[in-house]
Amino acid sequence: MTNFIDLHNHTLPGVDDGADSWETAMAMLELAYRDGTRQIILTPHTTPDPHSASSEAIEAAFQQLQAQAKPRFPDLTLHLGGEVLYSSDLEQREAFPQLPRMAGSSYVLLEFLPSVSRRQLFNGVDVLLRWGYIPILAHTERYACLRTSVDTAAQLANAGALLQINADSVMGNWGRRVKWFCAALLRNRLAQFVASDAHGVTYRKPMLSACAATVARKYGQAYAQQLFRENPKNVIENCQM
Ligand SMILES: [Fe+2]
Repeated sequence: MTNFIDLHNHTLPGVDDGADSWETAMAMLELAYRDGTRQIILTPHTTPDPHSASSEAIEAAFQQLQAQAKPRFPDLTLHLGGEVLYSSDLEQREAFPQLPRMAGSSYVLLEFLPSVSRRQLFNGVDVLLRWGYIPILAHTERYACLRTSVDTAAQLANAGALLQINADSVMGNWGRRVKWFCAALLRNRLAQFVASDAHGVTYRKPMLSACAATVARKYGQAYAQQLFRENPKNVIENCQM
């Protein structure tokens, strides 16, 4: 399997805790490309912190990265998205006049602090749905309140959230409990996306092929294609799932 679409990725340099330089960003694109990725949605962190990068700075960095990437990787397509950190401010729309959407679609990648409560998770999903967005829950496996069984994750999915998990979590890099929970989500067909959440070239790398092969072997080729290609494509094309 190849032609992956990476839906969660911090290669855009200088705007969050992802790539720390333009050299790192280009090295990350090289790794992703060699590994079989052909489309990436860049998802810099957006927080209510006034010191976080402005939407203008993010847009400028995106234009620059596209210009640098095009000659080296002509068939690699980059899209701009964002990863929105939930806070109670989010419940007042004025706090986020420009909520970053995934590739201009209605989908929004929403993250929470790892210690989030079950109630806050449902609140965050509800708020986005009320505004007409489709929430994608970033790295679903990271929230301790979800990891005892798949029941709450199933309820979140029923409430309208789409669940994304990280490739390195599926592969066991974040411990046995996280790996078990990812496996349970996959076995129950509750995850819609596996993405890299890449932050650099040595740790949290932009690579999906090993995970895609494992998922295809354990859960079937058709589901793997949905997770790594078809569902992210639906996001980019703003199709309902
Ligand atoms: Fe992220």
